[in-house]
Amino acid sequence: MADTSHGPASFWTQANALLRKNLTFQKRNFRSNIRLVTFPFVLCLLLLIIQILVNKELDKPSNKCGCTCIDTNGDGKCEEVCGIQYSTLDQVATCPIPSPPQWPPLLQIPAPEYRAVQTDFISYADLPNESCKRTGSCPVTILLTGKNQTLGQSLGANMIPSSLTLNSSDLLYSLANDVLGSASKPQLTNFLDPAFFSNLPVYYLQPQCASNSTFSVSFPIGSALSEQEINCVQGLHLWRNSPSEINDELYKGYWKGNPERKINEIIAGYDFLNTDATNFNVSIWYNSTYKNDSGGSPLALTRVPRSVNLASNAYLQFLLGAGTKMLFEFVKEMPKPETELRLDFSSLLGPLFFTWVILQLFPVVLSSLVYEKQQRLRIMMKMHGLGDGPYWMISYAYFLLLSAIYMLVFVIFGSLIGLKFFSLNDYSIQFIFYFFYINLQVSLAFLAAALFSNVKTATVLGYITVFGTGLLGGFLFQFFLQDSSFPRGWITVLELYPGFSLYRGLYEFAQYAFAGDYMGTDGMRWKDLSDSSNGMKEVLIIMSIEWLVILFVAFYVDQVVSSGKSPIFFLHNFRKKPSSSFRRPSLQRQGSRVFVDMEKPDVLQEREKVEQLLLESSSSYAIMADNLKKVYPGRDGNPEKFAVRGLSLALPRGECFGMLGPNGAGKTSFISMMIGLTKPSSGTGYVQGLDIRSQMNSIYTSMGVCPQHNLLWETLTGREHLLFYGRLKNLKGAALTQAVEESLKGVNLFYGGVADKQAGKYSGGMKRRLSVAISLIGDPKVVYMDEPSTGLDPASRNSLWNVVKRAKQDRAIILTTHSMEEAEHLCDRLGIFVDGSLQCIGNPKELKARYGGSYVFTMTTSANHEEEVVKLVRDLSPNANRIYQISGTQKFELPKYEVKIADVFQAVENAKSRFTVNAWGLADTTLEDVFIKVARGAQAFNVLS
Ligand SMILES: *[C@@H]1O[C@H](CO)[C@@H](O)[C@H](O)[C@H]1NC(C)=O
Ligand SMILES: *[C@@H]1O[C@H](CO)[C@@H](O)[C@H](O)[C@H]1NC(C)=O
Ligand SMILES: *[C@@H]1O[C@H](CO)[C@@H](O)[C@H](O)[C@H]1NC(C)=O
Ligand SMILES: *[C@@H]1O[C@H](CO)[C@@H](O)[C@H](O)[C@H]1NC(C)=O
Ligand SMILES: *[C@@H]1O[C@H](CO)[C@@H](O)[C@H](O)[C@H]1NC(C)=O
Repeated sequence: MADTSHGPASFWTQANALLRKNLTFQKRNFRSNIRLVTFPFVLCLLLLIIQILVNKELDKPSNKCGCTCIDTNGDGKCEEVCGIQYSTLDQVATCPIPSPPQWPPLLQIPAPEYRAVQTDFISYADLPNESCKRTGSCPVTILLTGKNQTLGQSLGANMIPSSLTLNSSDLLYSLANDVLGSASKPQLTNFLDPAFFSNLPVYYLQPQCASNSTFSVSFPIGSALSEQEINCVQGLHLWRNSPSEINDELYKGYWKGNPERKINEIIAGYDFLNTDATNFNVSIWYNSTYKNDSGGSPLALTRVPRSVNLASNAYLQFLLGAGTKMLFEFVKEMPKPETELRLDFSSLLGPLFFTWVILQLFPVVLSSLVYEKQQRLRIMMKMHGLGDGPYWMISYAYFLLLSAIYMLVFVIFGSLIGLKFFSLNDYSIQFIFYFFYINLQVSLAFLAAALFSNVKTATVLGYITVFGTGLLGGFLFQFFLQDSSFPRGWITVLELYPGFSLYRGLYEFAQYAFAGDYMGTDGMRWKDLSDSSNGMKEVLIIMSIEWLVILFVAFYVDQVVSSGKSPIFFLHNFRKKPSSSFRRPSLQRQGSRVFVDMEKPDVLQEREKVEQLLLESSSSYAIMADNLKKVYPGRDGNPEKFAVRGLSLALPRGECFGMLGPNGAGKTSFISMMIGLTKPSSGTGYVQGLDIRSQMNSIYTSMGVCPQHNLLWETLTGREHLLFYGRLKNLKGAALTQAVEESLKGVNLFYGGVADKQAGKYSGGMKRRLSVAISLIGDPKVVYMDEPSTGLDPASRNSLWNVVKRAKQDRAIILTTHSMEEAEHLCDRLGIFVDGSLQCIGNPKELKARYGGSYVFTMTTSANHEEEVVKLVRDLSPNANRIYQISGTQKFELPKYEVKIADVFQAVENAKSRFTVNAWGLADTTLEDVFIKVARGAQAFNVLS
């Protein structure tokens, strides 16, 4: 065996051990990993297929630049002709437009009902009377200001021509002399200016309108014509003394609570500043929010160029006379090639699908954490020295890595098959978003794992969460997002639920990808984070804060729930440590006196030994239990249960102590306290001089446990188990290999490839032997074995015994068992434990002598000779006691001091001559007899008391 020179394993050694174990474990879970990774592939492919189908539909001729059937040459048959003029409006969007039509430039004219008039709060005398609104004949207004009023007024007058120039043979050129405008809302492009297609009139501005002032004009669009009326509207140019007056006038209609919303809209406001004959300086107010809300885009064009041209034209005329003109002849869109209709379906369905894909990791991490908890592997690892720090770090890093790889595969695959969702949005934003989210998700899984103790429940609830969150996100949360009347504050509140913040983020990516694909621009870029409608920034902030908070809470809850610390454990470090003496206040000791007095002398002696040792604070004893008690509080009307009633015990190194006792006597409760699974109700224990109440973490590094139920990973092999626990015990390199091999050989698991079979496939006996090997690996100083040999065949049991015997040399072993043979074979001392307290303690021979003291004589005859047998026994030993009788077979206890074995043989020989003796026997008391006697006695006593 390796000697004791290796100390406790360092943080990194433990982390390394755990990491290797996890990797092996994951390798074994190959198939479920493959399933996990295929899920995003399948979803991405599904999206791709849907996208291809959608594209196919969009590419149908009916969605392509219009071709239609028209009878062009009047022969009664129609010919197919193509081109923009034959397209339905749906088709036009895709048509090539090599030479877009030219339109006369327009001013944005307020609709009649909104034009500026005198009101009770705007009372300029030069504004028209409100009555014009009834007839719809209100003039439109241009406001002017500047340093020089004379100049400004004359510029204003120059802006509005007093006659209409209209020459249909050169329409655009002639209209450039006029000032046209429309109340229609502009659109995204100028391919078709809505002014020439809407039923709203096109206006021309005049200082004064004549009575017959409506003309009909045909505007050419490509080769077709659009008939449009142009109406006269009176244009006013009004002087205001300062820019602030104009500001007042423009915004006054907007005061809150204005019941009729008497909005005073103007065409434009011009501030000529310091303009004079040598310097032209102007700033223009215009309404930038003109856009068509029903179907319009926020990026609609505004009709500003004409108002700029108006000002410069007026200035030119002021400088050079009325004949000078700088004509603004037409506006025209850029030529456009044929385009395809595109609908990025992946972006529409994306948020729902991808929420599922990403959330799917949650149950995986959760179930894996809960598995270790349910199988009590976490505690098993802890008992063999794995600290919370390495456990957390490695587990966290491990699941983070798993998630990261998964996300990477997902994003790369999605990009490769060309999903716009991934390829259009900035990858660095995606990276940050996914990184924050998977961190949040892993922390959340850690927190949730503390609340579950069953893998099935956790997995089922996990998947319900996944699908529920996706559906709620897709059909409720998204609805809220799109409803602009839903309070934004509530959306933020909803986003506190991580599933929804994930959904929101994906939704934003999808929106940007969709718009980008539709308009042929980029998706989300960093600068877009400052968009007010973009929730990404908010989501990133929420997720990063939540991540840290949840991580902290998860760690805290884990400390409280699984490590059994008190909910305010972190305060303990700040409290003053009690002076570390072994002696407790004498007050406490008084309570136990009554009980102590009734103890058997041997038990009392052990108690006194412990007290003596504590005073000396000697640590040569490996294990000491000092009046250890465990009381389970009463529940549901049941009284309190005393599982352990004041146990005192001292074990030197090299001793194996056997605990015997009927089921439910409290042996396991005692061991649970000693290995830190439960806290003692009072009293304490010391392992190598360390207190089990406060120094359990140090104790774990020199402790080995073979629990009653095998705590093994189903998918790891025996060798891998031993390697893992060996590393935890700071074995390295050759020493580790050697220790593992010896250990495997010792428990007879080495040959025949057994060591490399998965533990899940082991028989019960093999698992048992592996558990024993685990408890002994790495040379622990203190070993607890809870019924190590149950379920073993005699051969394995013997080899196991040899292992334990060898192991006993330098360590203290506490062993519970139901096999008297085992106890006798292995243990130096035995204690019989009944109903929470030790009834006797001593080495097997002593016990037998003390409680035995008699032979057992058995004789079988025919039933009618029973009396004679009784008489024979009475003759041998007057105090004999019949303990068993059934159809001719009888058992007697013969006190040793009364009988000589030779006499017994003599008597039997004599008897044989008188009647037929079928069988007979004489036996010394066994440990079993002692056990039964002690257990019965104690129980009888307890029933009486
Ligand atoms: C204002 O402009 C007019 C016309 O150009 C000019 O005659 C006059 O001197 C200017 N007034 C001032 C104060 O500059
Ligand atoms: C209309 O325009 C044409 C072509 O420029 C010109 O020949 C004609 O004289 C114009 N008519 C009037 C009334 O100005
Ligand atoms: C806004 O656009 C819709 C459809 O594009 C159109 O029917 C409507 O007349 C437009 N409204 C104005 C004020 O231009
Ligand atoms: C600007 O245009 C919008 C949209 O037509 C309109 O609702 C608003 O009243 C206008 N504002 C001003 C000051 O004219
Ligand atoms: C134009 O007017 C602005 C505002 O009054 C002024 O700051 C600027 O210097 C002027 N520009 C010139 C060339 O006079």
